Amino acid sequence: MKKTGWMLLMIIAALTLALAGCGTKDDASSGSSSSEDGGDGKKVYKVGTEATFAPFESVDDSGKIVGIDVDILQAIADEMDFEVEWNNIGWEPVFQTIKNGETDIGASGITITEERKESFDFTEPYYESQLLIVVKEDSKIKSLDELKDKKVSVQINATGHMAAKKLQGEASTNIMAFESQPIAIQEMLNGNVDAAIGDNAVVYEYIKAHPDQKLKVIEDDAFEKEYYGFMVQKGNKELLDKLNEGLKKIKENGKLKEITGIDFQ
Ligand code: ARG
Repeated sequence: MKKTGWMLLMIIAALTLALAGCGTKDDASSGSSSSEDGGDGKKVYKVGTEATFAPFESVDDSGKIVGIDVDILQAIADEMDFEVEWNNIGWEPVFQTIKNGETDIGASGITITEERKESFDFTEPYYESQLLIVVKEDSKIKSLDELKDKKVSVQINATGHMAAKKLQGEASTNIMAFESQPIAIQEMLNGNVDAAIGDNAVVYEYIKAHPDQKLKVIEDDAFEKEYYGFMVQKGNKELLDKLNEGLKKIKENGKLKEITGIDFQ
């Protein structure tokens, strides 16, 4: 290998090491088992998320996971005297790793659905949400019904994906599913699909953050109301009870309202 090749290799190796070494403060207390002693006698629960979902979870400039879900779960942890360690693992891995026990809590703007309840347990709800349609400003689309034979982008296995399948049929080839909601919106902007479907608060936040992208939303009551909850492994009653008790407390003492700006009981 030529000299420049080796140089490049060494730079890559150094970068990899540097990246592996850096993590959030919470990561420092992580270990191999899912809920161990945090050093001060407190239990540490591993939280899984997909952090491209502002205002609920996103990664800030310093690499920290921040947002409404982070604040709510921290408030619950404070009430119930445990610690949380956040991991930005991706949307589908949230479900896979809770199932296999690698992750304790799913906190990712997760809608409580009957189907998911067959495989997971959920806390009481903490936020009300509804899907909506995002199109380019000059689009003629006006309702969900009009999307029946249109190309639609969604986040894979999210409720938007389920709504699109319900409308077009399970096997529809007009549905394009992506890893995250922002990518689904991007695909629509690129002209690969006619519309994207996503969670209202997150779409509005996206539009606020990208005022130059000339987007338009369509709200339609054909979309059902959804409720976000925290998700745990089926049967993990000990953790579920803790989360529910903490959630009840922060509903009662006004902390939840302080965080979300919404009085949700
Ligand atoms: N609420 C929707 C669902 O549960 C989408 C959630 C996506 N969350 C995320 N952090 N990407 O399916």
